[in-house]
Amino acid sequence: MRPVGVWQWSLWGLLLCLLCSSCLGSPSPSTAPEKRAGSQGLRFRLAGFPRKPFEGRVEIQRAGEWGTICDDDFTLQAAHVLCRELGFTEATGWTHSAKYGPGTGRIWLDNLSCSGTEQSVTECASRGWGNSDCTHDEDAGVICKQAHSVRVP
Ligand SMILES: *[C@@H]1O[C@H](CO)[C@@H](O)[C@H](O)[C@H]1NC(C)=O
Repeated sequence: MRPVGVWQWSLWGLLLCLLCSSCLGSPSPSTAPEKRAGSQGLRFRLAGFPRKPFEGRVEIQRAGEWGTICDDDFTLQAAHVLCRELGFTEATGWTHSAKYGPGTGRIWLDNLSCSGTEQSVTECASRGWGNSDCTHDEDAGVICKQAHSVRVP
């Protein structure tokens, strides 16, 4: 009598284990491709006209959509972080009111607040991705230090 009871409990245990592992196991493969080191799979570029290769309107691609940054609360510290995202070492200045022309698409960041030492713009404070009351006439730009390390925009 007793050995049968134990045997039944271990069968239930095995069944529960299988159920739990299938529930917990399934979400991870679908979310894994989105996670990338550093900036959560974001892409950065300089755009607009007229401009030199190391300056321009900052455009960020997030979730497949290119967008811009509003100039509200923008600082040189934010420009430093963005210039590093673009492959430069630091910023020498920044621009407001769509100096390089208005962009299109989303306004991804507004009231961006960085200390300047962040490894990624994702570590800076803001109103949140896509949360902005700006128009593209307020697109921010950066002027990066000319010598750069990796990418040519
Ligand atoms: C965003 O920045 C603007 C301009 O400096 C300011 O007037 C506004 O209060 C800020 N909004 C938030 C939510 O921080």
